[in-house]
Amino acid sequence: MLDHSKLYFGGDYNPEQWPKEVWAEDIALMQKANVNLVSLGIFSWAKIEQSEGVYTFDWLDEIMDLLDQGGIAVDMATATASPPAWLTLKYPSVLPINFDGVQLSHGGRQQYCAASSIYREKAAALVEQIAKRYAKHPAIKMWHVNNEYGCHAPYCYCDESRKSFVNWLKNHYASIEELNTSWGTDFWSQRYYSWEEIVVPKRTPDGTHPNPGQQIDFKRFSNDVTLELFKMERDIIKKYDPIKPVTTNFMSMKFTYAMDYFAWAKEVDFVSTDHYLAQHDIENHIDLAQMADLTRAFAKGKQWLLMEHSSSAVNWQPKNYAKIPGQEIRNSLSFVSRGSQGSMYFQWRQSQAGSERMHSSMLPHAGEDTRVFREVAELGAILAAHPEISSYETDKAAVAMVFDYEQIWAMMQANMPTDDLSYPDTVASWYRALYKEGIKVDFVPANADLETLKGYQLVLMPMAHMLTESEEKTFTDYATGGGNLVVGYFSNITDRTLRVKLGGYGGNLVKDVIGVYVEEYYPLREASIKLSNGFTAKLWSELSRLNGAEAIATFEGGDAKGSVALAKRDLGSSTAWYQGTELEDDSQRKFFSGICKELGIESVGGEHLEITKRGPFTFEIDNAKNTFKVTRD
Ligand code: GLA
Repeated sequence: MLDHSKLYFGGDYNPEQWPKEVWAEDIALMQKANVNLVSLGIFSWAKIEQSEGVYTFDWLDEIMDLLDQGGIAVDMATATASPPAWLTLKYPSVLPINFDGVQLSHGGRQQYCAASSIYREKAAALVEQIAKRYAKHPAIKMWHVNNEYGCHAPYCYCDESRKSFVNWLKNHYASIEELNTSWGTDFWSQRYYSWEEIVVPKRTPDGTHPNPGQQIDFKRFSNDVTLELFKMERDIIKKYDPIKPVTTNFMSMKFTYAMDYFAWAKEVDFVSTDHYLAQHDIENHIDLAQMADLTRAFAKGKQWLLMEHSSSAVNWQPKNYAKIPGQEIRNSLSFVSRGSQGSMYFQWRQSQAGSERMHSSMLPHAGEDTRVFREVAELGAILAAHPEISSYETDKAAVAMVFDYEQIWAMMQANMPTDDLSYPDTVASWYRALYKEGIKVDFVPANADLETLKGYQLVLMPMAHMLTESEEKTFTDYATGGGNLVVGYFSNITDRTLRVKLGGYGGNLVKDVIGVYVEEYYPLREASIKLSNGFTAKLWSELSRLNGAEAIATFEGGDAKGSVALAKRDLGSSTAWYQGTELEDDSQRKFFSGICKELGIESVGGEHLEITKRGPFTFEIDNAKNTFKVTRD
């Protein structure tokens, strides 16, 4: 467990990039800014193990003691995120191979294949050394395994990965026949007669793509094989330190997709996450709020912590705009209001060299007499003044939205009705409409159980393309048992093997429970189209008819003119709605606010004003006026 008596404040600390004379100043300035935690050693492998099996810890011993004396706790990293040059030179099989068969080089970071047995052996040896040496060090309050698994090379197509993938398949299918059925390999002569014939889904001839079942299983395998790495390191740490919590930092950002954090969250002692703004988006505070709410859902009652974000500009977007004065404090407080146990940054002191020298930090190149450092210190003082916040959870919402990483993997595939479909964009647009209407949302996974769903008055399901029979049944039971449900287009189209459910798109859930019979997809040729109730829609229409539901709106034009665009069905003690299109923002707001009014779901704040309650604390953050207020009942 994390310490409940404080909110954590600090960042990644890379003292190995600086001469020792700077360290004392670091600690003095950390104290000045109320820093109480730093993440140490994340990229230190080459400094700790300078040649194979020879470990050097004096510099780390020294800085750990200095931090401890300075009253600054350590989130101790395992240093395995970036293997040293000697390692990949001696063992090139560690380097990942990409989709096109090209081996990636040393010189960046995360240049390892998750299935590599040598990488595992060398990483395990390093973690063993670090855990043994520091388990009892008084500065350490938590452990930080690796860094942002799956960020740079989530998929490796080398032969060792292929073997590992085949073993994974053997564990997931009772027979090769079952795999053939699931992948539909009688299509294009893809049938396999033995496990050894199966390859990883590398690039295929132009205009073709690897089998969809093979692709999605490879993504599942890549998640699982990477999660195994985390568990390996965690279990080594636990041998030496069974008490202090172990985490690894997730990436809660709209377009990070490779790891299924609902699965990962079950394996960590507390969830930690990194979030960076899309800096060109003037409403990026909404994406931030969504990602914070999503992280709370991964954690599912466990504690969680914003492990990294930026004090100002990043260095990896096309245009790296600085944050405006005050923005950073709002950003941090929004995370805290939504449940984070503090606010941590990448990184403490801005690097002088290396590819992140243009990335902001808590202490900029220009030193402490700067806007950024003053704002960082102001935030540190605010968090230090309200340590009790850490012992409360964010209030539960009345509305839940379904989110599922596997839907991203399904929708990333080619050969869809239109290339314009984007699961993350559709989820974000539903969330944005709710945010602007002041309606709070919790996220739930698509495999949530009935009890979890029943805790919500309204459940929203945007583009849940794949649902198992039992998942479909759970949502059906929820809707027919008194729960209100909104299902979006292109939902429940296939089972989890991507085999289409026959007899009307959307399966029984859409055809029989809600009562709309969907025959065919008509992606829109028009940029925007009018609906009969005055709403406007984009991207999508479908040829459909009523099958028990009542129409709220039909398409007024386009190829599917007259078909059902929006429908609802009175199920007795609840209502179910269907959206057979992608509503434009204003219409989506009206649609959800209408439903929430009908159900008596409260709206607080809205537009750019977020009002969030965490126990007795109320956070009021106005993202347009650039103001914030934290009050206690
Ligand atoms: C990620 C990494 C950090 C740093 C930041 C820069 O979050 O974990 O090491 O590279 O990005 O934004």
